[in-house]
Amino acid sequence: MMPGPEAAAGVAGAGNRGAQDSEKRLAVLISGRGSNLKALIDACADGRVNGRIVVVISNRPSAPGLAHAREAGIPQVLIDHRRYPDREAFDRALGDSLASHQPDLVVLAGFMRVLTPGLVRRFENRMVNIHPSLLPDLRGLDTHARALAAGVAHHGASVHFVTTELDSGPVVMQARVPVCPGDTPETLAARVQAAEHRLYPAAVEMICSGRVHAASDNIWCDGQRLERPLLLDPAPETKKSCVGTTSS
Ligand code: GRF
Repeated sequence: MMPGPEAAAGVAGAGNRGAQDSEKRLAVLISGRGSNLKALIDACADGRVNGRIVVVISNRPSAPGLAHAREAGIPQVLIDHRRYPDREAFDRALGDSLASHQPDLVVLAGFMRVLTPGLVRRFENRMVNIHPSLLPDLRGLDTHARALAAGVAHHGASVHFVTTELDSGPVVMQARVPVCPGDTPETLAARVQAAEHRLYPAAVEMICSGRVHAASDNIWCDGQRLERPLLLDPAPETKKSCVGTTSS
């Protein structure tokens, strides 16, 4: 018999703003630190996102991000991938758990698992991911080191709908940050992450509000097919972020 997901009940709705009819149900999947989860929790709480996080699911029992869900009183579910015989069995359990929470949108926030086509199709056009690069550039891992090695002037992050091909679904919105003289993968990662924390709530709200949706491998925004990703307004702190670094 296959193991079932372990649920740790929280106080549903705490940490989110009051229920509203139009409020979308969000399910957030994490594996690690959960700083993007925290940004989404805050954005739901202060009304920047008209949504409610109904569950946080982790595949790692030790994911530090679970603490954010706990503090906000959001129900957490642990589905440890190591307890399943193969990827298909894990994804079936994950899909069943997700479905039981009836999410309008599944939000991958540092969920370090490659999803099977079966799971992706189950939540087709209802699942988004954030990737630390300006897609289609730098798909895959180690994007900050690879951006530096490539000598690009700009780097950033992208929110895209999830399709069966890794990091390849249609991109909703991007945030660009400059690559500064003297940057290391760590300093560049920190700048990108700060941008991600504004980008993910902004992109999720475009979907929650109904202004953006995906259909037939395209993104539609305000009734028009999106020709290129929306671009997040640069934050003042991003514009200033090269100040104080040495020029080469
Ligand atoms: C983010 O950089 C995101 O782009 C990538 O995984 C990281 C997750 O970070 N998909 P956190 O766990 O949200 O802090």
